[in-house]
Formats: sequence, structure tokens, C-alpha cells
Amino acid sequence: MGERLERPTLSLLIGCLVLLTWAVVNLQAEEHIVLLDPTIEQPEPQDPITKQPMQILDPIAKQPIEPVDVITQPKQPIEPVDVITQPNDNFDKTLFQQVEVTPEVQAKKDAILESIVSASLSTIERNIQAADDLDKAFFDKGIDKIGVSSTDAFGPHLLTSPQAIKIAISGKIFTGISKLAAEILNISEQNIERQLSRPVPILTELCNFSFLPDCTLAATSRYRTIDGSCNNLNNRLWGRSFTPFERMMPALYDSFDQPRQTSVFNGPLPLARTISSQFHAQSVLGDLMPDLSHMSMEFGQFLSHDIQRNALSTGYQGSNIDCCQPNRGDPCFPIEIPSDDPYYSQFNRTCMNFVRALPTPNLDCTMGQRQQLNQNTHYIDGSQIYGSDVATSNSLRTFVGGKLQTGADPNIPNLLPKDLNNNANCHLPSANSNVKCFLAGDVRANQQPALISLHTIFMREHNRIAEGLSALNNGWSDQILFDEARKIVGAILQHITYKEFLQAILGDTIMISYGLKPSTSGYFNGYASSVNPAIKNEFTTAAFRFGHSMVHDSLKYSGTSHLFKDVFLKPDLVYDLSGGVDTITKGLTDSYSQKVDERLSHQLTRHLFEQQPGFGGDLAAINIQRGRDHGIPFYMLLKTICNVDDNVHSPTVWNALNALYQTEFDIDLFSGGVSENSVAGGKVGPTFACIIAKQFQALKKGDRYFYENSGNQAFSPAQLDEIRKTTLSKVICRNTGITSIPSNSFVKDTGPSNPMMSCNGVSDIDYNQWKCGWSNWGPWTICVNSIRFRLRTCRQQKPCDANVCIGNAFQVQMCRTFIDADTSKIEALIQRFESVLAGQQKNDGVVDINTAQKALQKLSSQDIIKKNELDTNLVE
Ligand code: HEM
Repeated sequence: MGERLERPTLSLLIGCLVLLTWAVVNLQAEEHIVLLDPTIEQPEPQDPITKQPMQILDPIAKQPIEPVDVITQPKQPIEPVDVITQPNDNFDKTLFQQVEVTPEVQAKKDAILESIVSASLSTIERNIQAADDLDKAFFDKGIDKIGVSSTDAFGPHLLTSPQAIKIAISGKIFTGISKLAAEILNISEQNIERQLSRPVPILTELCNFSFLPDCTLAATSRYRTIDGSCNNLNNRLWGRSFTPFERMMPALYDSFDQPRQTSVFNGPLPLARTISSQFHAQSVLGDLMPDLSHMSMEFGQFLSHDIQRNALSTGYQGSNIDCCQPNRGDPCFPIEIPSDDPYYSQFNRTCMNFVRALPTPNLDCTMGQRQQLNQNTHYIDGSQIYGSDVATSNSLRTFVGGKLQTGADPNIPNLLPKDLNNNANCHLPSANSNVKCFLAGDVRANQQPALISLHTIFMREHNRIAEGLSALNNGWSDQILFDEARKIVGAILQHITYKEFLQAILGDTIMISYGLKPSTSGYFNGYASSVNPAIKNEFTTAAFRFGHSMVHDSLKYSGTSHLFKDVFLKPDLVYDLSGGVDTITKGLTDSYSQKVDERLSHQLTRHLFEQQPGFGGDLAAINIQRGRDHGIPFYMLLKTICNVDDNVHSPTVWNALNALYQTEFDIDLFSGGVSENSVAGGKVGPTFACIIAKQFQALKKGDRYFYENSGNQAFSPAQLDEIRKTTLSKVICRNTGITSIPSNSFVKDTGPSNPMMSCNGVSDIDYNQWKCGWSNWGPWTICVNSIRFRLRTCRQQKPCDANVCIGNAFQVQMCRTFIDADTSKIEALIQRFESVLAGQQKNDGVVDINTAQKALQKLSSQDIIKKNELDTNLVE
């Protein structure tokens, strides 16, 4: 393989060039910009006839289909042949080769699409039902099981919500019909989006995104909705949970929707496990980050769970599909383990379980490529703490004092609430042990104890803030306290993300050029309703997985260390009476992360969620396989789109990649990106830096509730300043028993630029900025002609009740008396001054202090006291 690369034939080179040109030209073509460019608004899906928002219909409930016994048959894709043969020849396929079309031609094309859809819908639905029957049969036979002991390397990322499973029903219909239409109409892979992306009324009815929420209340609300809807008032579903990931580039699948498995020059791609074992080798000791702490890794994972949760296929009743059984077919895409595998071969293991991500219709409800679903809100809003839907959020609340639930453990207060039914599927020491999994807004919280610890700390931060707000504002309801505390915690998370985390990962140059640095004062005025904040598929499937390379072999815990394989899915350490969350957190700030490079710990590439030796998972192989499952274009395309120069790998690394792949144009995005030399001042290479920076730019500009925004949902300037004072270290100090911590807990080493900070007396948020009613009196002004005055303001910034008080109030006083002075004259002056001030009060009840001072000077200059009296006889 390596030889081919060193001496490429002319045709190979031409092939690559054509492919790259195709990608670049397609991205620049107008139609693609409309689809992909987040800065362009997309229309809300509507019924094309009534122009009303569409309702969701459950396509399966619409038409019950006879179950069939299929387990004895190897599962084959069921071709809807009857549909293709019938109307196939009557269609004018040439219409679908044209780029420029007149309205008449478009109408003809729409009619053709509609007739294909109506002819094939029932067959597609029958195929889906047949697949469901197969799943049921595997479940009934005890092959697919529910929960933690179901197959090798079971992890909580496999726990898919029923809501996602429901959306996937229409996802399968959309993908099935689009594939069929592309086949019938001879539409080439690269033309699918351009030619098929049209609303077809029958399909629109089946699309879950046709139903739009009512945003009347949200339009003026100070608070985000729990599910992220109504953030963008023109595109109400943008960023909502249970909506598709968007793409930077069109997908590259095999055969329309099948995982990318073929080289651009034909022949198979190298196996994901082979790339992992040969390229993503074990991190070595000298491979540590020179500066960043293991907390940088952990915060990255916590943040990742805020903004993305892929929906993976499940079997009957949410069981875990065992894809290593023969003949499973779609949605199985098992990871093949070669017989000479350096590790798994000793266990005679040849297969690693892997299910494909569920398909979803796209947000426009038009036909097109297979897309994947984000179950969490796309925004940075703390949804991993609060949940991404109202039911989850409610289940975590106490509904008293705005607080979140905590674990009722007499020995260790303030842990997360217990998951008494073990729905989160973690490993418990025994069924009746006091140790239970925890409940949080994201079901992956129990994945390992460091993640549980950050969840616990931020849950505590919420409760602390709710208490602080409640102490100053007796009248606030549980709902206002919850909403305001959630708003503050979301803002703190955003501030830490942009100020500390991204700064450490991307470095100054990228932060500045993408406008990611937070302002030091005032508001950020860059909100753009045309920017779609949605998480991009290239980001979630490859670029933001850079953090997997930062994971150390073990968690440092006091004097000892715990290998990750011993603590995956085990909450025990958190319950440890001699340490728990505090000790885990201290261990994270006290140890280095691994460097971002091609190397990953064996804890992740051999022992992921291992239950017995030899049967753990391989996260690097999973990342590569997931990229292929999602049709993520190869690394070189993304590198081109990001304008990255050549030679961004060390020669050794580039040679190692080229030895594995038939051509550099096959390199998977995760492998090519994670192994680049890092950008100046940052920790990731230029391609990942570009993808990550673009994503966080969209998450900033496209979030109406971004913490630095002005507008009717905004923090007051003084409140915003309080948020800006927060750091991750302060949050840790405020919510643990840790006594000292580096000022910047993302950086391990302390010194003059990162001094150790005592947690004793670490500053809290100044809740006074949230106090409703009159402020304290301000200072007295200087004495002017025996008179001074002072002001107090009415604090009715949101969410205060506007009836508490209004405007500002002033107090005027005689400040000097004179021997023999005529005090009655001074009192008269005070009265006149007061009436001038009253006249100056605007509608909002506010007197401007400068204007008041000028008025006093003017009055004084007209009247009363002689200059020499002032100088000689005054008494304070
Ligand atoms: C001990 C630490 C970690 C473990 C065990 C872990 C494990 C996993 C697993 C099992 C998946 C699902 C893979 C798939 O099926 O496609 C995943 C996905 C992902 N991980 Fe990690 N991870 C860790 C740390 C991190 C860190 C530090 C980051 C980023 C800084 C990160 C970012 C991601 C992203 C972006 C995804 C895709 C999310 C999604 O599936 O929606 N992970 N990780």
C-alpha cells in the first residue's frame, strides 16, 4: 500500500483532484450554501397548501402491518422491487440531471417525486416493520438483552431515549424513500442534496419537525426553554434537543446511506481496529501535556455532554443489539478484529459490537442524505445538569426553593440523587448495596467517577445559588429561583468554556481570529439570528473527540491511582467516606492530561467498559467506525475546507498513516485530525482547531441567550460582571471541602502566572446584584452652597417584580450652617431644589445625578449666601 502512494499513477492523482474539486465546487454552489451555511436562514417547514405548521403523525400507527417470523432467515435488505418496476420508465430522468431549472420544470420534478413517494411508502414501512420483527425475535431468543450485562463493552451512550426511537421511524422512511428515488431517477451521489431536497406533502406529514412550538411566551422570556426550542424566533427548532446534527460538508456514504467502507480508488478501507492498534498506540509516560491538568480533559467531557448526545440504534424494547451475531444486517456495523490482533487475538475475539446511529429526517423535512440525531440541546446551557426535556428536568427538581434534588445519604450530604431503579445501568457492588447509580440531566453521568464529580459540583452550585437568591428575595417563587439559578449556572458554564477551556485548547491566535474571547466589560453585540448553532456532524464525530487522546490511564485518588477499567460505570469512589468527590477533583487538578496526539490509553483502546478480560471496547476504533457510519468525509477534504497547509504532521506520523491507508484521500477524519501538530499556543492541530472554533463561534453568535448578549433576556451589566469573576477553581472551592487549588484549574503547574489559591474566603457571587427593591443610599454629594444630596436606586432588574419600587429616590440636606446665617433661606433653597428634581424625573422615575448637580449649582449661583461667609464662618 505504501508503495502505491510513493509512486502514484497519473490516473490516481487525477482521481483525487476530481474528488477534491467536486467537494470544493459543491460547497461553493449556491444550492449547497443554502443547505450548509449556518449564516443563511432556513425556512420553517410548512404545509405547502395551507401554509400552516405541520402536525406529527406516527407513521407506523397509521398503518398496522402484519408481523412476520424472520429470525430463522438471514436478514437481507428487502428491496421494494414492485415499486421500482411499475412507474420507473415513465419518469423523465433527464430533469434530475439539470442544475438550473425553470418553475415549470421544478413543478414536473416535484410531481415525479410525489408519485414515487406515494407508490413506495407502504413498502418502505413494511421493510421497517420486518426489521422490527427481526429485533423482537432476537430479543425473545435472549440474544439482545436490556442493560448493563447485555453484550461486551456496554456503555451508557447506548441508552437511547424513546423520543429518539420514535423520530427514527420517520428517519428510516425518509432515508429509504430518498434512496429509492435516487436509484429510480439515476441521481448521482453528489447531486442527491441538490435534486431531492424538496418538500413532498405526504412525507412532510410524517416528519417530526413539521410541528412547530408556540413561541409567544418564549419570545419575551428571560429564560431558555428546557429543550432549547424558541431560542431562535425565526427558526424555532434550531438548537432544540432531538433535532439533527448539521454538516459542514455533504456526507460521503457507500451506496447512498451505507457506511463509508470503500477506498476512493475502490477496494476496502483498512479495518478500524487495525488503524487503532497500529496507529493509535498506547500513550507513553513522556506523552503528558506539558501544562494542562487532567481537569482539562474532564471539563471537556462534561462540556461535550452538554451539547451532544448521539442516538444509537436499539433493539426490541430498547434492548442492546448484539451485532456480533451472524446475519444481523442494518443497523449493525460490527468492528472486525483481525486474527493477528496484538491484543484481542489471545482471547480468540474477532468481533466488537457496534450499532449504527439512528437516522432522522432533516430539519427541513425534505428528502436527502441520511442524517443523525442529537438527543441533547445543542446550546451550552447546562442540559447535562438539568436535562434536555421537561420530564427529565422535572424529575430532578425538588420544587422547593428552586433547588435540584440531592441524594438522601446520611453520611455524605449533597450527592446527586440516586437512581433507585438502576435505569442508568451502572455496575453496583451488589443489588442491595447502598451504592447506587446517580441521576443527572444526561444519562451518561455514571460513565466514570470524575464525570460524576463534575456533575455533583455543578448540581451543588445550582443549589447554592438558589439559596443565595432566596435569602435576599423572600418573595421569589420556586420557579423563579430555579429559573434564575439555572440561568446563572448556564452563564457560568459558558464563561468557563470560552474564558478558560477554549483558551487552553485553541490558544490566542485562533481565539482572536474567530472572535471567541469573552469581553471584559459591557455586552457582546454579535448575536445573529441567521446563525444556526446546531452541532456539526464533523465536530461531534471527530474533532471534539480530540479529548479521548487526553485521557490518562488512571484517575489519581489521594496517594493511589485507579485504572479507568476498574472504575468505568462504578460510582463506588464517589461514596468513599474518606474522600469521594473532593479527592477525585483534587486528583484531576493535581495530575497532567495526556497530550493530544494519535496515542490513546489502552484503558480506552482495549478496556473500555470491560466486564471480563479481553472483552472491553476500543474507543479509537469506535470513533473511526462512527465516522464511517455517519458518512463523514475523509480528512483531506476537511483539511482543504479549513485551508490547512500541507506538512502539519511529523514525517513519522504521516508515514505511519500512509502505510495504513491505500491513499491519503482515505484517511479518516478522527485519525488524520487528532495526529496533527498542534497550533501555536493551542493543543489541537489546525484542522480540528478550525472545526472546533467554527462550532463554538456558532454556539456564541447563534444563541439568543448567550450570557454576554444584551436584550430583554440579558443580565444587567452588574450581574454580568459577577459572572465574569467566576472561574472553574472558584466553583470547585465553593462546592467542595478542598482548601487550596491552582487559580486556573485547567493548568496543573502553579507559579507566578498560576498561583495557588486558598479556598478560604474565595469570593462568591455578589447576590446583591440580584436583590429586588431599593438599594442602599449612595454617598452624599459634595456640599454646594450648604446643600448636599444622595440617591438610591430601585433594583427592579429582571426577574424582580416591577411593582416593588420605581426609578430612584433622593434625599436633600443642609450640610453646613453659618454663624448668623439665615437658615430659613437655605431651607427654602432645599425646597426649590427638591421641586426641580421632581420635575426632572423621567417616566421611569429616574433622575440623572449629573443633571441634578448642575441644577443645584444653577440655583445656588442665583441666591443667598455671600462668598466671604462661606469661606470664613462655616461649621460642618
Ligand atoms: C474517560 C473519558 C472518556 C470516555 C470513557 C469516553 C467514552 C466515549 C464513548 C463510549 C463515546 C461513544 C462513542 C460512539 O459510540 O460513537 C464517546 C463519544 C464522544 N466523546 Fe468521549 N469519552 C471520554 C472523554 C471524552 C472527552 C475528554 C471528550 C472531549 C473533550 C469527549 C468527547 C466525545 C464526543 C464529542 C463524543 C461524541 C458524542 C456523541 O456520541 O454524541 N469524550 N465518548
